[in-house]
Amino acid sequence: MSALDTIVSGATICTDSETFQADIGIKDGRIAAIGHDLGDAAEVIDATGLLALPGGIDSHVHISQPGEPGVVMADDFETATRSAIFGGHTTLLPFCLQSKGQTLRDAVQWYHGLADGNCYTDVSFHLIITDPTPQALGQDLPALVADGYTSIKLFMTYEGMKLSDREILETLEAAKTCGALALVHAENDDMIEYLRDVAGDRGDIAPKFHATTRPIPAEREATHRAIALAEVIGVPIVVVHVSNRDAMEEIAAGRARGSKVYGETCPQYLMLTKDDLDLEGFDGAKYVCSPPPRDTASQIACWEGLQTGVFDIFSSDHCPYRFEDPQGKKRPAGLKSFRWVPNGIPGVETSLPILFSEGVSKGRIDLQRFVALSSTNHAKLYGLYPRKGTIAVGSDADIVLWDPARTETLRQDIMHHGADYTPYEGLDVVGWPTRTILRGKTIMRDGALLVEKGWGQYQKRALHGQELT
Ligand code: URP
Ligand code: ZN
Ligand code: ZN
Repeated sequence: MSALDTIVSGATICTDSETFQADIGIKDGRIAAIGHDLGDAAEVIDATGLLALPGGIDSHVHISQPGEPGVVMADDFETATRSAIFGGHTTLLPFCLQSKGQTLRDAVQWYHGLADGNCYTDVSFHLIITDPTPQALGQDLPALVADGYTSIKLFMTYEGMKLSDREILETLEAAKTCGALALVHAENDDMIEYLRDVAGDRGDIAPKFHATTRPIPAEREATHRAIALAEVIGVPIVVVHVSNRDAMEEIAAGRARGSKVYGETCPQYLMLTKDDLDLEGFDGAKYVCSPPPRDTASQIACWEGLQTGVFDIFSSDHCPYRFEDPQGKKRPAGLKSFRWVPNGIPGVETSLPILFSEGVSKGRIDLQRFVALSSTNHAKLYGLYPRKGTIAVGSDADIVLWDPARTETLRQDIMHHGADYTPYEGLDVVGWPTRTILRGKTIMRDGALLVEKGWGQYQKRALHGQELT
């Protein structure tokens, strides 16, 4: 019998700290050896000319999330995780939404009912807290954190989801007590509601007004406030989907004061602008997401943030709605005004090819930074490292082989998501994931799906700052 199950031979291995040539030996789903002359294996994968990178981890994904009545997300766990593996991901961290009046435990149970047995990637939930009752904060959250649900998301905007400053303080205090890491959606809700009302009075209903009614100061102010609230309690936070330089400066200023503030940006802030919301007719609705895409100067700023470390992680904020669908972007209310258009765009399949092509292939970031932003830092932040997020002996054999020279054009007809469009239609990319390996098993090769759903497993996580072995 062979000592190893699989050898990935001849690849150029990249971690967040180095690039080197070696073979990877896999046994029982984990990396058992890295080196040369590893002996026999039942399967040898010739990866000559390819890069072997840690499987992508997307820590900001919305799947089957309940929203306004009559609105349905385009992806369930099967389609979202299927789409993800074609884009070079092996682990997703989707949100588990606590609806108002629901216990956190019930929300978690309900999401497991949707996810378990249906995933192609490994998954682990962040808990969205919308109803911070004494039971939620005092009993359910500590118990869930002890069970490996170690992160929460708090919203400062969106009716039905937003928390007051007081509720944020109370929730952060509870998070501090049990060690949960908080992600914050930072936009000033009153500014947005005021501007939306003014727009409504003027009859400004087109999708482009989504961008003008969620301006940069609304994001800057809320980012400042979120960091200040976290400073009062003395907890780290992650400011997610940052879109512009002002918000980045708030993160940098918080760090300069000694606060632990982490930053995330997303492909839409590198590749789209508010002009995309101003297309003919209703087409701009395809790009309605929050915060909205800004302008060229903000794109440049976000690239700088990826280079300098203002951003620790790069995520998709995959939040897909079908366009030609009365339960999606074209819901009847949405056709009447931008304010009722479902917020969010698909992106879990395109995010890493975009970061690789626009970042690595165009020389904006190096391979180490790509690996850090797309995998290692997510694992470290959210209690998955070193089980995931690296190529090292003992880690899960979550490996993506990238062909750095392969060119592709992003098009809806090559996507595997449930949406009926990609915001990046026609974008040429250089660099492409050709094989995705999850816990030692090839699940995608050259565009072919090679496993049944259910290979992806739920992952309990360690606390932020602790290792998962
Ligand atoms: O527009 C977006 N980003 N929708 C997803 C929900 C969120 O705020 O992350
Ligand atoms: Zn958000
Ligand atoms: Zn989101």
